[in-house]
Amino acid sequence: MTSPVKVAVTGAAGQICYSLLFRIAAGDLLGKDVPVEIHLVDLPVALDACRGVVMELEDGAFPLLKGTVVTSDYDEGFGDIDVALLVGAKPRGPGMERADLLKDNGRIFVGQGAAIDRSAKKDVKVLVVGNPCNTNALIAASGATRTDRKNYTAMTRLDQNRAMAQLAARSGASVGDVRNLAVWGNHSPTMFPDWFGATINGRPAADVIGDDAWLQGDFLTTVQKRGGAIIKARGKSSAASAGNAALDHIYSWATGHMTGDFVSMAVPSDGSYGVPEGLVCSFPCRITGPWQYEIVQGIELNDYAKAAVKRTADELAAEREAVSEMLS
Ligand code: NAD
Ligand code: LMR
Repeated sequence: MTSPVKVAVTGAAGQICYSLLFRIAAGDLLGKDVPVEIHLVDLPVALDACRGVVMELEDGAFPLLKGTVVTSDYDEGFGDIDVALLVGAKPRGPGMERADLLKDNGRIFVGQGAAIDRSAKKDVKVLVVGNPCNTNALIAASGATRTDRKNYTAMTRLDQNRAMAQLAARSGASVGDVRNLAVWGNHSPTMFPDWFGATINGRPAADVIGDDAWLQGDFLTTVQKRGGAIIKARGKSSAASAGNAALDHIYSWATGHMTGDFVSMAVPSDGSYGVPEGLVCSFPCRITGPWQYEIVQGIELNDYAKAAVKRTADELAAEREAVSEMLS
């Protein structure tokens, strides 16, 4: 039997993980034929709750689930792991922006980044979900000396999914008919869901929609502010859709599913499109093989798109400045 892939999930007692963990066990992260061992990592105060989640995982009788570890010790939790899903962090409440979480949550990623670099497999793949996820990923990656910084990523797939759903609903197409919709920048209200390169049933999305005012107005702000709208409606931030997007991010990366399409991944910039090197910025990415991605090159940005990318990259640069004392 193939040995299980070891997946660490932080914030395991929290609301996102309450849907995410069960779907990992069901094979939605890496494939329906890939056995997994899940490391549930949370604060000491939350370990009893994690043990309860493990009982429920056992009661799910998932054939692919070969073992669990419950711990608040980072080196144990990240020990020999292949994949880290860094979800554990404070969510924002009503009236807050995600950047307001930076000082509190950023520190979590100093310790976790160091422990991953010490204890995980050398080619570990990391996805940061905890907000503000881009800059938290930057903090975690900054300490990497043994592991590869290129493998420290943050989640903007939820924003891509939201944008695709909006375009599909407006045009009457199905979500599966929308392709190459990619999100640029920060997971914040400055993000740019780029409809210029997107197609619906093979035709430019802008032509199919036929309403530039809507694209530059309601479409843009709905996607940019969707997280806040959910908090206002639910009293809590998005959870199941966030877990779903984390699965999409890793499943695409690991398996090459959606090869040929763009996928939105926040990854360390190599300077492409004028985004300063090192910032963890969302780009249109292409999966070129199992666990291989590249930033799509050669996209001709018009003046509107150039300005939008610059605005969100400038915000990431300001966040980097604000956490400079947390960077190694
Ligand atoms: P939650 O409050 O329900 O759960 C957070 C969990 O993290 C808790 O169990 C808490 O004990 C744990 N935790 C806190 N500090 C920790 C640490 N140092 N190590 C390990 N665990 C720790 O929150 P949630 O709704 O599950 O959201 C988690 C994070 O994900 C928040 O920051 C939220 O804003 C973010 N989020 C991001 C996206 C995205 O698209 N990137 C989407 C939704 C939510
Ligand atoms: C989201 O986009 O739903 C999350 O980042 C939660 C939030 O604070 O908006």
